[in-house]
Amino acid sequence: MGFRVAVIVVAAGSGARLGRAEPKAFVELRGATILERALRGVFASSEPAQVIVVAPSGRVAQARRIGEFVAGAASGCLSVVAGGETRQDSVAAGLQLLDPEVEVVLVHDAARALTPPELIDRVVGAVTEDLGVIPALPVSDTIKRIDTRELVVDTIDRSELVHVQTPQGFPRAQLVAAYAAADQAYTDDAALFSAAGHDVTVVEGEARAFKITTGWDLHRAENLLGHSGGHSGALRTGLGLDVHAYDDGTPLWLGGLYWPDEPGLAGHSDGDAVIHAICDALLSAAGLGDLGGRFGTDEPRFADASSEVFLHETLLLVAGAGFAVVNVAVQLVANRPKLSGRRGEIEARLSELVGAPVSVAATTSDGLGFTGRGEGVSALATALLSS
Ligand code: CTP
Ligand code: MG
Repeated sequence: MGFRVAVIVVAAGSGARLGRAEPKAFVELRGATILERALRGVFASSEPAQVIVVAPSGRVAQARRIGEFVAGAASGCLSVVAGGETRQDSVAAGLQLLDPEVEVVLVHDAARALTPPELIDRVVGAVTEDLGVIPALPVSDTIKRIDTRELVVDTIDRSELVHVQTPQGFPRAQLVAAYAAADQAYTDDAALFSAAGHDVTVVEGEARAFKITTGWDLHRAENLLGHSGGHSGALRTGLGLDVHAYDDGTPLWLGGLYWPDEPGLAGHSDGDAVIHAICDALLSAAGLGDLGGRFGTDEPRFADASSEVFLHETLLLVAGAGFAVVNVAVQLVANRPKLSGRRGEIEARLSELVGAPVSVAATTSDGLGFTGRGEGVSALATALLSS
């Protein structure tokens, strides 16, 4: 069945003004990423819609996982695409994925993480065949015009001014044509739409739909959510251990990375003991058993599967049981490979795969036991989940 409405959620910005290591949409806000919180609002709106997430090019897989988690059974309506240099480029990338039946397109900033679903409904309800709709709120501060020397020139009549938010809604055909015709940068979608000769009207905005731009905004969002962060607050930990023997005849995959010139690991799938331990820790924390029990280690379809497949399936099970991953810690006990040179790389890779911070440590066993004799590796992981 096709949808009449599509919501493009742009999340491809870097968040320079927030100043975090990760792009803004992937920053944690009380136990869930900004993107996850924005999508919860979108999926809670009344009109079933096609949802298109526009993500930074290196984060498409992570964005898809977050989207699938929030969408649950509705994940069939979800598409994810890489964005561009500017917000306008990112919206244009999202427009490429519109289903043929879509008549109304909403463009929404992931950075407006706490936007209430009612605002989305209000915008959808006001779009007509030739009218764009934007949420607006009155300006409460006095507004002055200043010159280049920072001298006040005059006071603007604020009764004529509003400040505007997203989602901004438009009739599909006109918006697509306006984007195709745009030959300059516009500050928002409504400006681009107006420049193509169309009318735009306003509906009442929502204070909670403010955009998280700076650290101060993030702090405000945290305070609004309170300490439970919108979760019931229950935390659960889990533990996982995995052991594999070295096998000179296979390539080494460990921690989701390929390790050239290192002996591989024997065993199930690609033998990635680090990922297997993480899967077991996640399943254990969610009370879902263990990897062998869930995926049948003898099943031929998993024989040569990449361990990322198990991690992906595990995360879907964990999400389906109503849990969000808070963090994961894993320790490798092995003589080889030496993790130190690539620790940042593994942590980044695993954090991307899990969708939450993963910290990685390594040790040798001081010459003792099978790891000390150089017969194989052992990996131990813990996971913390919130419900
Ligand atoms: N956005 C995007 N693609 C870009 C730039 C921005 O999808 N090339 C998205 C952001 O992810 C955000 C929304 O547009 O959800 C509003 O942009 P803004 O708040 O400016 O976010 P950033 O550009 O990420 O932040 P900054 O300008 O501080 O770098
Ligand atoms: Mg920006």
